[in-house]
Amino acid sequence: MSYLSIKGGNRLSGEIDISGAKNSALPLITASILAKDDFLVDNLPNVVDINVLLNLIENLGGEYEFKKNKLKINTNNLHHIKAVYDIVKTMRASILVLGPLLARFGEAMVSLPGGCAIGERPVDLHLKALEKMGAIINIESGYIHAIAPSGTLKGAEIIFDKITVTGSENIIMAAALADGVSKLINVAKEPEVVQLCELLKNSGVDIKGIGSSELEIYGTNKELIKLEKTTVIPDRIEAATYLCAAAITRSNITINKVNPSHLSSFLEKITQMGFELEKFDTSIKINPVSKIKPIEITTTEYPGFPTDIQAQITTLATQADGTSTIEEKLFENRFMHIAELRRMGADINLKGHTATIMGNSELFGTDVMATDLRASSALVLAGLVAKGDTNIHRIYHLHRGYENLEKKLRNIGANINFVE
Ligand code: UD1
Repeated sequence: MSYLSIKGGNRLSGEIDISGAKNSALPLITASILAKDDFLVDNLPNVVDINVLLNLIENLGGEYEFKKNKLKINTNNLHHIKAVYDIVKTMRASILVLGPLLARFGEAMVSLPGGCAIGERPVDLHLKALEKMGAIINIESGYIHAIAPSGTLKGAEIIFDKITVTGSENIIMAAALADGVSKLINVAKEPEVVQLCELLKNSGVDIKGIGSSELEIYGTNKELIKLEKTTVIPDRIEAATYLCAAAITRSNITINKVNPSHLSSFLEKITQMGFELEKFDTSIKINPVSKIKPIEITTTEYPGFPTDIQAQITTLATQADGTSTIEEKLFENRFMHIAELRRMGADINLKGHTATIMGNSELFGTDVMATDLRASSALVLAGLVAKGDTNIHRIYHLHRGYENLEKKLRNIGANINFVE
């Protein structure tokens, strides 16, 4: 079995270019179902999740070319409306085809995503919103079968009980082709949601309230959209992960091709931990500190502290001079990395949704297991500072969302290798 091997203790130095955001690229790809002409996307990260979704679009009858981070995708000949279990089971975000398929064809079948390592993750809010738009939804043999009886979804007022990122994206895409106006309330404000709205707006869909929690979307009544060429926004989670890598190894690095405003809550916490940052238009430089201050964090929706950076900052807190507390508000089981960090010498108590992290822990390299995407990067960070060799198994989780992580870290001085 392949694994990632890290020899800890190296100082890092140099610059890293941040890739396009996987979580923004996914809805952009499924938005191609709303169009029949070629859709061009630049800065698409070449990671497993993106290739899984492209495979799904191809399976539905779409065509694409993906080379050197540039995508040309065309769904004119798309004819299947069934997203099969074999693909959906490997990536939950496949649910993002549901809204666009139903809006364009009046019918869709998507395998119901199961639970996942970080929690139950239901899709009830996606389904309730589509029902409000007139869809009839049945669960049949593990599949969501959705039909718009008149062939067209109707604009509706939808109040999301909870903020959901992919739920908002699904319904925004559905509303774009619906008949009439949709008013969406309590919509996610993540930069990835905003990018999707901006794409649709630049392509002629009338959307009001972009970036706020209330959107008004004027549907085209099934007229397909000609999507404007788009460049995927920088991956804020990847950016934060490399800043944590510099922070934990007491190094001085610069990350390029980022949007610092998307990272505000993370940058504020890192600053509270004592790090000095130099922010430019599209880059951030981090300088080392001799003593890292402990921190208190609660994860929440954007613009709050992202749950996708919780695991990485937990690892950093093991090196702080004092006790930190981190509360996870979004997912019930997103502390799987803690047991592995403990095996490396971390002193962390877990009670309910809160982790209490005693600082000044000396970490030691050993064999550890990645459990999900962000937990994997937390273990990489631990490996960079641990004494000796850390071997991270089940590393495929990491390749779902980080483009060339080993190469990027090696280029700035880390001793990290992928072992087949
Ligand atoms: C997205 C991100 C993921 C991130 C998460 C939270 C993508 C592809 N993934 O996941 O990286 O960690 O946002 O920022 O963009 N919920 C329900 N019912 C629903 C939908 C969600 O109860 O129908 C709950 C979830 O269980 C969770 C919370 O709402 O507790 C937020 O989940 P959601 O924003 O939907 O996460 P994802 O869109 O799956």
